[in-house]
Amino acid sequence: MKILITDKTENEVVQQLKDAGQEVTFNEMDPATLLKEIPKYDGLMVRSRTKATADVINAGAKGSLKVIGRAGIGVDNIDLPTASKNKIKVVNAPTGTTESVAELAFGLMLAASRSIPQADHSMKQGLWEKKAFKGVELCGKTLGIIGIGRIGTELGKRALAFNMKVLAYDKYIQKSPTAKIAMVSLEKLLKESDYLSLHIPFVKEEGATIKEPDFEKMKDGVIIINCARGGVVDEQALLKYLNSGKVRAAALDVYAAEPPTFKELVTHPKVVCTPHIGASTKEGQLRAGKICAEQMLLVLSGKTPDFWVNKKMMEGK
Ligand code: MLT
Repeated sequence: MKILITDKTENEVVQQLKDAGQEVTFNEMDPATLLKEIPKYDGLMVRSRTKATADVINAGAKGSLKVIGRAGIGVDNIDLPTASKNKIKVVNAPTGTTESVAELAFGLMLAASRSIPQADHSMKQGLWEKKAFKGVELCGKTLGIIGIGRIGTELGKRALAFNMKVLAYDKYIQKSPTAKIAMVSLEKLLKESDYLSLHIPFVKEEGATIKEPDFEKMKDGVIIINCARGGVVDEQALLKYLNSGKVRAAALDVYAAEPPTFKELVTHPKVVCTPHIGASTKEGQLRAGKICAEQMLLVLSGKTPDFWVNKKMMEGK
């Protein structure tokens, strides 16, 4: 069968598909070309650059498109209802980049606590502002994790190794992944956490999980980390509480609009920013690509994939 890969992918992943007997085309095509070319393919593999829009999927369905693979976690760039309606399976690689994202979130906790990027910037200006960068320790503090799935759990384990107390809240998970992480209500988590890190998807219909009234319930001096999706924290409210001093610092890898248009937040002196690089490690990208390829091969050989994102939608549930 024919597989089109439209976002940068490791040679090993291409080889894996070829070894399984697939004809593979790699081409970072523009949206108009993709629309024209997609009917020729049985499978489309993307990362986050390519947008598998309703038009692209409908065009693919008129040809032989059977599966869309996302070599990563989030499927915001794939129109799931249209894929489901056309019986096109969407698969992803939710286990591929767990460690990469957890490590970035942990790195951002340290960076925000010690103003590492700001201090580096100051040094590069030729300054020696030793007194300006008095930080706070992680040791002995409480980390509140919202969303205790794979990434949240890995972050929690790292925090425990730094002698932090770890609390978690999850709308869907009641049982703690490890005895040392205590499951609590959102209210308790907001009230008791010195650090707050979010690891949940963004559901457009539900809007932000952390909104203005939630900030009021937080501890003074809380540090907020978001490596999940921009929309899960209300950015206007975050700016308001950074300015009031209630929020000591924020470290963000994701934004409501990407690239971010809310410049006041990104340029805020108490904000540490990275350009959505949580999953961007050599190891993570390779693992995600391989898992995605494996999932697509399962679909193309008529088997049920393990990571079938639109299963419920396709089954009408
Ligand atoms: C993911 O969902 O896999 C990550 O956030 C990476 C990305 O979307 O760029």
